[in-house]
Amino acid sequence: MKHIIHLSILCCILIYGCNRQKKSQQEAGTIPKMIMSGEKWLDTSGNMINAHGGGILYHDGTYYWYGEYKGDSTYWNPRVPGWECYRTEAGGVSCYSSQNLVDWKFEGIVLPSDTVNEKSDLHYSNVLERPKVIYNDKTKKFVMWLHVDSHDYAKATAGVAVSDSPNGKFEYLGSIRPNDAMSRDMTLFKDDDGKAYHVYSSEENRTLYISELTEDYLKPTGKFTRNFIDQSREAPAVFKRNGKYYILSSGCTAWDPNQAEYAAADSMLGEWKMLGNPCSGKDADITFYGQSTHVLKVEGKEDAYIAMFDKWNKTDLINSRYIWLPVKFNGDSIDIEWRDKWNVEEVFKN
Ligand code: GAL
Repeated sequence: MKHIIHLSILCCILIYGCNRQKKSQQEAGTIPKMIMSGEKWLDTSGNMINAHGGGILYHDGTYYWYGEYKGDSTYWNPRVPGWECYRTEAGGVSCYSSQNLVDWKFEGIVLPSDTVNEKSDLHYSNVLERPKVIYNDKTKKFVMWLHVDSHDYAKATAGVAVSDSPNGKFEYLGSIRPNDAMSRDMTLFKDDDGKAYHVYSSEENRTLYISELTEDYLKPTGKFTRNFIDQSREAPAVFKRNGKYYILSSGCTAWDPNQAEYAAADSMLGEWKMLGNPCSGKDADITFYGQSTHVLKVEGKEDAYIAMFDKWNKTDLINSRYIWLPVKFNGDSIDIEWRDKWNVEEVFKN
């Protein structure tokens, strides 16, 4: 009995001590801001962040995270029995904003799906995936491209939308098969000289296209390259460091994880060289159970990049999680090491 009383007193002292430490850290604003791999990530209103297959835009001191807003029930599409075509009703594109990359405020659905018109690209029965937004300095428009598809992924097109502000609403302009080719998983990349590129899995996902965009970023110029021919690369994420361009991508196994690969080139439309799996540590051979979606360059910081992955939960897609990890460089090669959690200050301090 005596022991139990002592133990209870000890616990109370410990809890009191922890709470006091937390309170004084709160007062001093020094509570570490941790990024937790694959854990529930709540927005500033306490709801799970719903922004899958996403990308991040930095604009005027704020980061904007755009992603797929998944519906809350997942089902295997009965009209596609041949492969695991799990889907949710498309909820459109969500947007969250943050200054510190950990606390995200829900800005709303900036490109809503259409609940009425079955013929609309944006009808909720279709596929709206991997939205990415870049800012056009000349037109002063925020330009979104996204994967727009039919329920069975047969249409294989890219949609375009524009807005005057980062938090929408975006006006949908329609979809195309860029360069007369299929377009599914995709990303955008804006170079330092203001030129932008649409990078997409084409030819039944077998070949990755890199397509230059017009000055307003709304169309392809017609100049494009075919890369990693017949290598079935998906989920592309592009970034640039020290004048070198990198593409991180996944293999092609629907919602299931596989091994990541990265490639580098001296220019976007140049020769890309495959450099192997950039991941290391636990489950590195299956990208930590994740799939690439974006590599974020932390604004104004040297060598501060964060690789963003989706950890899909294929039978409960809304409950898919996020894995964000710092990218480390050794010369021109990259290493993305597994961490259960890390302090975001790491990328802000250098
Ligand atoms: C993946 C793709 C995802 C989603 C999924 C559907 O290969 O990267 O974005 O389209 O297939 O099964």
